[in-house]
Amino acid sequence: MAHRVTLIPGDGIGPEVSEAAAMAVMAAGAPIEWERVELSARIIEETRQELPEWVLESLRRTRVGLKGPVTTPVGEGFQSVNVALRKQLDLYVNFRPVRSIPGVRTRYSDTFIDLVIFRENTEDLYAGLEHEVVRDVVTSLKVITRAASLRIARYAFQWAQRNRRKRIHAVHKANIMKLGDGLFLRCCREVAREFPDIEYRELIVDNAAMQMVLRPETFDVLLMPNLYGDIVSDLAAGLVGGLGLVPGANLGDDCAVFEAVHGSAPDIAGKGIANPTALMLSAVLMLEHLGETEAARRLRYAIERTYAEGAHLTPDVGGTATTAQFTDAVIRNLEKTPRVGES
Ligand code: NAI
Repeated sequence: MAHRVTLIPGDGIGPEVSEAAAMAVMAAGAPIEWERVELSARIIEETRQELPEWVLESLRRTRVGLKGPVTTPVGEGFQSVNVALRKQLDLYVNFRPVRSIPGVRTRYSDTFIDLVIFRENTEDLYAGLEHEVVRDVVTSLKVITRAASLRIARYAFQWAQRNRRKRIHAVHKANIMKLGDGLFLRCCREVAREFPDIEYRELIVDNAAMQMVLRPETFDVLLMPNLYGDIVSDLAAGLVGGLGLVPGANLGDDCAVFEAVHGSAPDIAGKGIANPTALMLSAVLMLEHLGETEAARRLRYAIERTYAEGAHLTPDVGGTATTAQFTDAVIRNLEKTPRVGES
């Protein structure tokens, strides 16, 4: 039985990397039927809907999505469609595994980084509650609830236990935001007590940023509210070679949407040089979620092999290949990767 999956190419580099990722998934032999759904800044401006109903309808039906980035205007215009999607479908977990890829040269090439970020995905300053009190005075409300903090903490600890991870750092700024981040932290402590086998530590977010740059290999699992998670994820991506490499997943109890950490990259959109690795690795997470573990394993291996060979890498990681050339190399490596039981 084929799995129906909503494919949202998005805009900017989204259509380029989505096409590459979809081709790689099919070449990996996974039985997927794509339900392609258009979503872009242009459509939102034209339809004047925060989130077009056809996107929600498709995701509610298929319960699984692979999504490219969608542009949000900066400092004006409509609210982020990405944030709206996460809230509407209650995708409360943002999961971002950040792992060194052998063959990618970085400032940390001699250090193996393998950390996982769990970011609360529905509240905090992303509540979108902003108000101009009087001219030139604005308040932006930060919302932290016990329910949302407990469920992200519990998800992170359960995941860590299932995956034999050893340590969780809760990241916060409770020295300043004593009530909001204080509540988040109390919830993390409460859940940590249920998991005595996992070492629990706390770090103030500014110190966390410095420690990650100095000693990234000491981090295992990080757990944090929405905004810190957004910023720290990009920092972590920088440690392993950049935004072109880091996958992600937005997970809820009923639905899961897999997307890279990066945005629509308007500076390189349309040039055919975007790195599709982050979305391909997001597709690997999607295949695992669907139970297609063999296709997931083969696709991950083919991507790693393409980096180990180093001949067809995109410019962001020091190569000269186009998105299409990198994708062809991954597909060739997939064809060379035996299925279990084959020699
Ligand atoms: P960005 O992630 O789009 O780009 C930051 C830098 O990384 C740029 O120099 C870009 O060229 C590079 N980069 C990103 N992905 C790459 C890839 N796959 N291959 C090679 N280079 C890559 O962040 P930026 O510029 O801050 O945001 C642009 C737009 O994207 C904004 O409208 C923002 O709201 C939106 N965005 C959307 C997200 C989503 O749909 N989930 C997530 C983050 C941002």
